Amino acid sequence: MAAAAELRWDTLEQRKHDGENLYHRLYEWKMQQLPADVRRFCDPETSAPRRKELLQLLRSLEEASSCQRLQILFSFSVPSPQVLQLLAALGLPLVSAGAGTGYWEFLLRSRGLDVVAFDQNTIFPPEMRYTEVLTGGPELLENHPDRALFLAWPDADETSHFSLDCLAYFRGHTLFHVGELLGETLSSNPWGQSTSRAFQLSLAEDFCCVKRIRLPSWPGQVDSFSVWKRKNPQFVLCDGAHFQYAETELEV
Ligand SMILES: C[S@@+](CC[C@H](N)C(=O)[O-])C[C@H]1O[C@@H](n2cnc3c(N)ncnc32)[C@H](O)[C@@H]1O
Repeated sequence: MAAAAELRWDTLEQRKHDGENLYHRLYEWKMQQLPADVRRFCDPETSAPRRKELLQLLRSLEEASSCQRLQILFSFSVPSPQVLQLLAALGLPLVSAGAGTGYWEFLLRSRGLDVVAFDQNTIFPPEMRYTEVLTGGPELLENHPDRALFLAWPDADETSHFSLDCLAYFRGHTLFHVGELLGETLSSNPWGQSTSRAFQLSLAEDFCCVKRIRLPSWPGQVDSFSVWKRKNPQFVLCDGAHFQYAETELEV
């Protein structure tokens, strides 16, 4: 693994790293640097002073390589080589909602994918963006019925209805979700930190999860990448039970 001296991430150009996944390398390096008990920051057995130290390591925005700072500079979840390869192999044109800095979208475009990205663009200024991120809201999805929807950490908390609005406007058949899902979280909210309860319930009604891959996760997160296929709304009665067809095989 590269030593820290080889890894530079001060400027956007350095972070772009010719389309290589620098963030993943930084993640692996950083996880080796952090103390062994770092994931215990939320363990009630951890003393209050130690918790304070660990939270400082994780969240200080003054520290150039704190996890939170890297998440702001790149993205909330760390793209893994395996997931980037899968998305490239599937080759579906994408529309990314709430793209933030556009880091995932930049990596995917660098791997040949056709990606339209949008965000309300009030948080990440143009100089932080890796690729073109159109300004707009969920209604833009109506224009892209032929693309798969890419949704990474769209909701700040349960009061956000952004992800649910995206589902309401989305007409396509495939949805990629990046972040936490029901039961896979350390948050006291069982629905996790990425998409609201209302979104996940609606997603599970209309879509079937056909693949789920764990992503590298910063301490305090349990991230995964999952693929969801739209179920045919027509119920079919099969020997007394209702089924809804969906394509469960992924064509790579
Ligand atoms: C937590 S950030 C995630 C950014 C990026 N997808 C990532 O994984 O790092 C959520 C993003 O959703 C965007 N967002 C929230 N509500 C939105 C809305 N109604 N329309 C467009 N973008 C929205 C925010 O501006 C922000 O960039």
